Amino acid sequence: MINVILLACESLEIRITNNNQTIMNKSFVLALTMVFAISCGEKAPDSSAAEISTEGADPSSYDPNRGEGKYDHVELSAVLDGAMATKGEEVSEVKCTSCHKMTDEKLVGPGWKGVTERRKPEWIMNFITNPDPMIDKDPEVQAQLEICLVRMPNQGLMDEDARSILEYMRKVDGVK
Ligand code: HEC
Repeated sequence: MINVILLACESLEIRITNNNQTIMNKSFVLALTMVFAISCGEKAPDSSAAEISTEGADPSSYDPNRGEGKYDHVELSAVLDGAMATKGEEVSEVKCTSCHKMTDEKLVGPGWKGVTERRKPEWIMNFITNPDPMIDKDPEVQAQLEICLVRMPNQGLMDEDARSILEYMRKVDGVK
């Protein structure tokens, strides 16, 4: 496009040069070029804005409290279910503790201490059973990703195991 314009400008210059008006014509060509440069410059922000708004699957519908997945409401009892927490501890030793400590210290991923206070139970259940879309959409997970530099892999948790891990996290956070 710009090449075509420049070509047009050049032939214009040659034609007018033949009329012995070189100086005036050169500045005319320059002005013409500037007009095109400006109009091209105006186009750029428009098209990039369109790209941003079509990126990903409608991030405006993402709920950062609930996350994304099948859990809308997770019922917790005030008192810890000890047997369930023990089951959760066993599962997490197989699938999670290679990357997560029970303290607030980061290993590969963030430490779990305080996670049940930072996050709603629905968020935790959705994240641990369905991490991929949440890593893409959740602003706080994206911030963690920048620190951890690893995407948490989907561990293929069964619902029951996910729920028992949540109970274990509550135990770590001091629920009795
Ligand atoms: C290969 C390492 C790895 C494994 C295994 C892993 N995670 Fe993660 N986890 C991460 C990383 C890294 C993050 C931070 C987010 C990101 O970068 O994807 C994270 C984030 C989390 C968070 C959010 C923590 C917060 O403070 O918001 C929870 C909850 C979580 N993981 C639970 C689990 C559970 C439950 C398991 C086991 C079933 C598990 N993770 C297994 C690496 C891992």
